Amino acid sequence: MKLIVTESYEQSCLKAAEMIGDVIRQNPKAKLGLATGSTPEPIYKNLVKMYEQGGLDFSQVSTVNLDEYWGIDPEHPQSYRYFMNHHLFDHVNIRKEATFVATGKGTPEQAADELEEKVFENGAPAIQLLGIGANGHIAFNEAGPSLRAKSHVETLTESTIQANSRFFDSPEQVPTQAITMGMGDILAAGSIVLVATGASKKEAVQGLLLDDVITTENPSTFLKLHPNTTVIIDRELAQLAGV
Ligand code: F6R
Repeated sequence: MKLIVTESYEQSCLKAAEMIGDVIRQNPKAKLGLATGSTPEPIYKNLVKMYEQGGLDFSQVSTVNLDEYWGIDPEHPQSYRYFMNHHLFDHVNIRKEATFVATGKGTPEQAADELEEKVFENGAPAIQLLGIGANGHIAFNEAGPSLRAKSHVETLTESTIQANSRFFDSPEQVPTQAITMGMGDILAAGSIVLVATGASKKEAVQGLLLDDVITTENPSTFLKLHPNTTVIIDRELAQLAGV
């Protein structure tokens, strides 16, 4: 696992955007695995800027997102489809039909099967962008006694509902289920880049970086099995975590 410590969260996001940009320049038909949450927002801002400055062409790029709430309309401002359109897809020359965020059609199990298919359609993503939860979750693979390899339906833990309630009017409005890639889907990507910032991520990042233990109690530790993972954190978090 490669660790990059930057001077600031802004620098971390620029670095991650450059890595994604490099993948697209190397292969204009690249498939990207994308994430939502607050961490990647500036990464997408940087990618939009690169596009506007003429340095990046998304016309042949395809994407698949890690996860989506179940039971939320794609038009809902807190849906991950809305997030992706709003932060990236609406501002670059990507073909919307080449982007995939799990949908709420049919049963949750059908939606999970469709996501599993999309992850591997024409090959797994060349690069997978990740954030990390305070409990070490990646996508919606929650810390617990076991993890799943494939895309599946996940019931959100109380701590994730609480953490995500900042985006809703109240915790009661946070959906309780989500469709998410499994650990095997994430680990299938050609490369992985995880960005973390903020004191709340300290313990998760310690588990990820300080030893070689792999545990379902910190799902991010499974990234230690991937031969091409880069973790980008700012100096403040690095010092706090003692890495
Ligand atoms: C979002 C996702 C989540 C987030 C995590 C951290 O697609 O997969 O695992 O990466 O919850 O969220 P933020 O960045 O808001 O702290």
